[in-house]
Amino acid sequence: MTTGTTSTPLVHALNVSKAFHGNEVLKGIDLDVHRGQVVCLLGPSGSGKTTFLRCINQLESLDGGRIWVDGDLMGYEDRGGTLHDLTDRAIAAQRRNIGMVFQRFNLFPHMTAVQNIMEAPIQVKGENKAKARERAMTLLERVGLSDKPDAYPSQLSGGQQQRVAIARALAMNPKLMLFDEPTSALDPELVGEVLAVMRQLARDGMTMIVVTHEMVFAREVADHVVFMDGGVVVEQGDPRSVIDNPQHNRTRTFLGRMQAEYKPAVEHVPDVIPGTVPKAPTSVD
Ligand SMILES: Nc1ncnc2c1ncn2[C@@H]1O[C@H](COP(=O)(O)OP(=O)(O)OP(=O)(O)O)[C@@H](O)[C@H]1O
Ligand SMILES: [Mg+2]
Repeated sequence: MTTGTTSTPLVHALNVSKAFHGNEVLKGIDLDVHRGQVVCLLGPSGSGKTTFLRCINQLESLDGGRIWVDGDLMGYEDRGGTLHDLTDRAIAAQRRNIGMVFQRFNLFPHMTAVQNIMEAPIQVKGENKAKARERAMTLLERVGLSDKPDAYPSQLSGGQQQRVAIARALAMNPKLMLFDEPTSALDPELVGEVLAVMRQLARDGMTMIVVTHEMVFAREVADHVVFMDGGVVVEQGDPRSVIDNPQHNRTRTFLGRMQAEYKPAVEHVPDVIPGTVPKAPTSVD
């Protein structure tokens, strides 16, 4: 199944199912995400998007199916076809490969930006303080906040806090980043700066699964779009075909409703992260 070759998807989800108190929330999700790919998950409220992300990093256990991340069977050990639960310690180790960014920034309020980013490398990986700080500063620079290392979350805008949250997730060198509506709690004028950071991350080759209502992001940055409804994948493919030419009625209805009810925060995903120096153009024509 997982051969370790470069063509193996980084994320391979097979027939994933999950129920809460008899309520079937995921009804057999199959999804492959290849290395360096950006996959956007779209779907109405309650369709199971968050639950699926939480299953990937084992914040939820599965009722059926399997998920591999970089060849690792998440949460279980397969011994001769029988699955055995991994220990909490082993699950924690698997989870370290996966960065997660939520709607709410969840920064530690009593720590500065740079301390928030240094925390996990020091506590979890046992990195020395000076090295962790140096790397945290590089990450702050990457998200355009090199001038804010000593600011506390309460002194930062929502967009800046979310950029720190992204830097904090990156500090553990994840192979995969999961984003669950990272801009939906932000004032519209702050959405662009977070999307710009995510676009740059995508350009740098990060593998990402992004739950979002920002169709502009899905259209301009995603390599692949997955539309979920009622715990199943209804339709998936190239963003332009799924968003501009959906084949299924449920996708059309959802996209139509989004267009009517949801005002996009940005017309385009900004190319430049505020606080960073724009990269020189790569070609002259
Ligand atoms: N811990 C839980 N206990 C019970 N029910 C849950 C739990 N987590 C999620 N659910 C239910 O599972 C269904 C799917 O929820 P989920 O949060 O995955 O949807 P979603 O697609 O992320 O929705 P939204 O767009 O509103 O975030 C919902 O009906 C929700 O009420
Ligand atoms: Mg959700």
